[in-house]
Amino acid sequence: MVHIIGTSHETLPIEIQKKKDTLVNLLIAAYFGEIETAINYQAIVRNLDGHSGLMLRQFLEPEIEEEFGHAKQIAKRISILGFNVPSSAVFRDSEVSPAQKRLQTVAGSKDFHAIISAIKAAEREAMNLYVSIISLCEEFDLSTADVVTHILRDEEEHFLIMDRLSTSLR
Ligand SMILES: [Fe+2]
Ligand SMILES: [Fe+2]
Repeated sequence: MVHIIGTSHETLPIEIQKKKDTLVNLLIAAYFGEIETAINYQAIVRNLDGHSGLMLRQFLEPEIEEEFGHAKQIAKRISILGFNVPSSAVFRDSEVSPAQKRLQTVAGSKDFHAIISAIKAAEREAMNLYVSIISLCEEFDLSTADVVTHILRDEEEHFLIMDRLSTSLR
């Protein structure tokens, strides 16, 4: 296995250089996704009132901190890999993912089930992204795979919490 930390980018085999570039692009997408999720969850917990709002806030509020925590861990990893962490200018120019679009749509809505379903879609989108990052870095970057595996475990928990909440209130 090639050890990519401590080896300059140019001296890495071309195929590993390409994989590393792809990895960093996926990490940047994940970094923005985490921050955007935190913004949208914050809007959801503040804009939904009544009994269901209180119930959801109890579960979703701690997750907002966790999503920011994920963003910080990913930023650290991008930096360790020798790349710049992008500013909000890059974020503003980037495309909105399908799950984030759904979160934006329900952020001011009072439809509890539509909100839960959009949150589950966002968690599923994050899980899919992390699984592809883990499988990409398997051959050359076990440390990034490890960081992302821990984040994936949190997203699985977030998904299951929302899944149980939606079945308990059906
Ligand atoms: Fe997250
Ligand atoms: Fe999450």
